[in-house]
Amino acid sequence: MSDALKKLAGQAALEFVQDGMKLGIGTGSTAEAFIRVLGEKVAEGLQIIGVPTSERTRALCEELNIPLTTLDDTPQLDLTIDGADEIDPSLSLIKGGGGALLREKIVAAASDDMLVIADESKLVNPLGAFPLPIEVNPFGLAATKIMIEGVAEELGLSGPLDLRMVVGDTPFITDGGHYILDASFGRIVDPKTVSVALNGVPGVVEHGLFTGLASRAIITNKDGARIVEAADKT
Ligand code: A5P
Repeated sequence: MSDALKKLAGQAALEFVQDGMKLGIGTGSTAEAFIRVLGEKVAEGLQIIGVPTSERTRALCEELNIPLTTLDDTPQLDLTIDGADEIDPSLSLIKGGGGALLREKIVAAASDDMLVIADESKLVNPLGAFPLPIEVNPFGLAATKIMIEGVAEELGLSGPLDLRMVVGDTPFITDGGHYILDASFGRIVDPKTVSVALNGVPGVVEHGLFTGLASRAIITNKDGARIVEAADKT
């Protein structure tokens, strides 16, 4: 996705932001484009308060003087605006390519609505070409991995579970202090069922399947930005 398309998505998302809103603020390069235009509007006088979905997003918001709060002080938000790695026709998502999926899901779930911003290469049917990030507690990693494989097999899914690394043999650590397993399961035709099954595995903290959270997406391509509504919000 070119920077221009990301900026276009960010600008289009501003149409959904109203004075006084409590916003969930996403993570990733598309969310960053939104944050930058949001910062410009705040500098011009727009009154919003936001909950960042990662330390990275928090740092950028602070740099741009975007007022921030926490879910402890502000537990109910109006709207979360965030990117995605894949989007299916019912607006189920794969997220977590940037490793922020746990806070992203908590913040989206605490919001009345979620607006996804992405370019049209993220539209897929079904989900699954992008490896599914699964956030796990470092304790018992090998055992958790075996249990995930077992649950996946029962659902007809299989494929490598790769521990995400930063460099060499140093695992990537999330903002919550956990590891990420990137699961190359391939086609995920029933994301809701896979989501529930993965959440039942001890050691799995959260995973990147977002179902029933987003009702709209702003999709950009070289011709501009359009709104896509969830075909079936499950
Ligand atoms: C961050 O953890 C992710 O969920 C991102 O929202 C997702 O990876 C999309 O990122 P880009 O906008 O950089 O493609």
